[in-house]
Amino acid sequence: MAHELAVAILAAGKGSRMKTQLPKPLVQAWGKPLVGYVLQAVENYDDEALIGVVVGHKAEMVKDYVSRSFPKARYAFQEEQKGTAHALQCFFHDLPEAWKSEFLLICCGDSPLLSESIFKRLRQEFIEDPGLEAVVASFKLDNPFGFGRILPSKVGFSIVEEKEASEEQKKIREVNSGVYLIRTSYIKRYLDEISSDNSAGEFYLTDLFKPDIPIKACRFQDPNLFLGVNTFEQLAEIESILRKKKIKELQEAGVYFEDPQSIYIDLTVEIEEEVRIGGMVKISGDTKISKGSIIEQGCIIKSSQIGESNHILAYSYLEKSILGPGNQIGPFARLREGTQLDGNCKIGNFVETKKAHLKEGSKASHLSYIGDAEIGERTNIGCGFITCNYDGKDKHQTKIGADSFIGSDVQMIAPVELGDEVFVAAGSTINENIPSGGFGIARSKQSTKEGMAKKFIKKK
Ligand code: UD1
Ligand code: CA
Repeated sequence: MAHELAVAILAAGKGSRMKTQLPKPLVQAWGKPLVGYVLQAVENYDDEALIGVVVGHKAEMVKDYVSRSFPKARYAFQEEQKGTAHALQCFFHDLPEAWKSEFLLICCGDSPLLSESIFKRLRQEFIEDPGLEAVVASFKLDNPFGFGRILPSKVGFSIVEEKEASEEQKKIREVNSGVYLIRTSYIKRYLDEISSDNSAGEFYLTDLFKPDIPIKACRFQDPNLFLGVNTFEQLAEIESILRKKKIKELQEAGVYFEDPQSIYIDLTVEIEEEVRIGGMVKISGDTKISKGSIIEQGCIIKSSQIGESNHILAYSYLEKSILGPGNQIGPFARLREGTQLDGNCKIGNFVETKKAHLKEGSKASHLSYIGDAEIGERTNIGCGFITCNYDGKDKHQTKIGADSFIGSDVQMIAPVELGDEVFVAAGSTINENIPSGGFGIARSKQSTKEGMAKKFIKKK
């Protein structure tokens, strides 16, 4: 089947300015390889297109990532990097069916901010002027150093590379972004004519563009859209732009940030409408926060699922936890991996949980450690409760049934199991099971000696 659009993603280069073992297309921004962003943008634009990635340097590593994440993408191999026009020749050599497409979109594998809206705009130019052979995305820079400059002429234009430019040409501020949409028939006519007769000895793709041919430079206002990564400084800049973009998307989806400048959110995080997020919050990994939840200042949330209408008070730390609706957490609570709150639970200040399942409506409001435990519905855990889950060698389970009341300062020596509607007196150390309806007390008896205090209270 002939594709209307073929896409060549040039990613064979070495990226030698970054001192990393990874080939440049696999360098990550917010945990995702650069080429992954480009492939995603292309797929968003046209998921029927024939997409070919030109690989060369560390080709197997790049292919391995692409085939896992974008199974529809194909490859072309460029053994020696002799320039961007040569990369395109390799593309057609390995993917000859691309000659049948009407258009070829060309972009680089190291520009993670490219988006479908750029491609749409290039396509629109052909709709408005079907006589065009090619559209080049361009932008203006105060300091255009390093870029190919657009030399306008009456019909088309040419592009002169930095290395070839005269002092006069170097002053031109309109530059080539390296993103092109070109009629395939036009490429077919001129690609093999390109020579490497220039100061770099490279085959320049930009030699396709000529002054006497109907081509257009489509100028974009925001040069950042085309930012490529050559240095770690540029990578940090791109991550900061991606972060702002993520926050803007969430704001548009109905999330309120009290202080958007101070928030860190991974691109993988999902947040629903009517969620309110305080300052200095960091949310990462595979986290989802559902409707109506409030996350107060300073919380750190990693790979957790937070149901509707939770209220996470200031400075709480949650990791790999699953929360149903309507819980109240913190301030200063720590929910460690494997915490599960069914809903309408309360975890108060200085409470730590780990592999703990608290069922509907149960509460631990102050200063407790609940580890390897199951707490039944509506059970109340008093202040200073501790599951003694570790015997120095193994971890053991504590199980408490529904509608129970555990007094303050109680320790449970696990393994231990309490039934439903159990009452444990404050200050007890429980090491025996208690059946449903039972009362447990395990503390030494108090004795009171009248008048004896004066022995101990020294008057000054
Ligand atoms: C290129 C353009 C320049 C433009 C700039 C925008 C040419 C000749 N010049 O220059 O006009 O302003 O991009 O960023 O095209 N690649 C290969 N095989 C090769 C050479 C390069 O796959 O043999 C890939 C690289 O991995 C990279 C992309 O093509 O992703 C661009 O190559 P690069 O060498 O960075 O071109 P520039 O000098 O930046
Ligand atoms: Ca470049």
